[in-house]
Amino acid sequence: MAVLKEVRIGLIGHGNMGRHHLAYLTKGEVPQARITAVADVNPQALQRALQTNPKVQTFEDGKAMIHSGLVDAVLIATPHYFHPGLTIEAFKAGLHVLCEKPVAVTAKAAQQMNEAHARHKKLVFAAMFMMRMSPMWRKVKEMVDGGAVGRITRVNWIVTDWFRSQAYYNSGGWRATWGGEGGGVLLNQCPHNLDLLTWICGVPNRVVAQATLGKFHQIEVEDEVSALLTYPNGATGFFCTTTGEAPGTNRLEIAGDNGRIIAGGSRAIEWVQTTVNTARFCKTTRESFAVPPTNKIVIEPGGKDLAHMGITLNFVNAILHGEKLIAPAEEGIRGLELGNAMLMSGLTGKPVSIPTNRNAYDALIRKLARTSKAQKTVQEARVDMGASFR
Ligand SMILES: NC(=O)c1ccc[n+]([C@@H]2O[C@H](COP(=O)([O-])OP(=O)(O)OC[C@H]3O[C@@H](n4cnc5c(N)ncnc54)[C@H](O)[C@@H]3O)[C@@H](O)[C@H]2O)c1
Repeated sequence: MAVLKEVRIGLIGHGNMGRHHLAYLTKGEVPQARITAVADVNPQALQRALQTNPKVQTFEDGKAMIHSGLVDAVLIATPHYFHPGLTIEAFKAGLHVLCEKPVAVTAKAAQQMNEAHARHKKLVFAAMFMMRMSPMWRKVKEMVDGGAVGRITRVNWIVTDWFRSQAYYNSGGWRATWGGEGGGVLLNQCPHNLDLLTWICGVPNRVVAQATLGKFHQIEVEDEVSALLTYPNGATGFFCTTTGEAPGTNRLEIAGDNGRIIAGGSRAIEWVQTTVNTARFCKTTRESFAVPPTNKIVIEPGGKDLAHMGITLNFVNAILHGEKLIAPAEEGIRGLELGNAMLMSGLTGKPVSIPTNRNAYDALIRKLARTSKAQKTVQEARVDMGASFR
């Protein structure tokens, strides 16, 4: 592979998210990256891209851009169903890939992306999990990894501050349909939370969930989910989300034998440390109502949150200088599979084990997609994604 001095990036999908990526890349905020091309199936979206950056080449077909010779890497910001097909095509053409979240709709498709990457190991494959750039979440991860709560016994995340209006859902034909999006709050808003949860606390091995379809909005998919989680070490968890509540709450609690961390929203991290191990104290104290003594520490993580731009910068530095990826896209399958498990449990009313039966989940989503308003979109997605959605 030729040694690059700069990375020529091609953006696929110039919608809400693509516009943001194009703007900071055009301003030169990522050194050694140059945006050279934009692809979008909508000619008006390409016209808008040219208004932001008249120098880019435009393509109405992402694959044509991939094979144009104008790009070293692609940033994929299309609706989720198209992520796997475009990623796999880019690897075949020898391009590095930065894929928006969620990496795919189903864990089976994510697995196919990972298998394709395994065949092209020298190519960098990153995911736009920009919440991993947040100083707060980085600190929580560092604390948990460093044993701040000891052995985790309970994880609760109430993340109900994802309010979305009906106008939001009406703004794109693919949104909140089984055929166009493949899920609701778990697949559009919560991939960030599910990624952080699995990044920080690991992956549960059992889920029992309640998911309500179109409870607050006229949509086909889930806009409210409550899930009970069980972890391999016996720890329990609760994850609750919706796009129908205001003002909403964002509160993650991670409790363990050595204390508890509370984080989320704009609050500082609260760390209450037990001065003795809780499990040991429970067994050894002779007092009926004694509780382990604690110290409370409030942590205000400093530093700027470079968000999306930071992930793209890291991606470019990984390509040019071998920098370690902050959000390797292979890890996208973890949060995705947890979300798939929640939805499958919610839809079937049964507990779901992780690893899930990925073929069964795929079949379930395909069945729902056949009844979807966005049937045309899913047909197009199947053609575009080739083997990955058959
Ligand atoms: N990381 C984040 O913070 C964040 C925020 C918003 C959206 N996203 C993700 O970005 C993706 C796009 O979301 P959005 O809100 O920008 O959607 P959007 O509908 O606003 O834009 C999608 C764009 O992709 C184009 N498109 C559709 N199919 C295409 C194809 N096959 N090839 C090329 N272009 C195609 C559409 O014409 C549209 O311009 C989603 O996967 C979403 O989850 C990430």
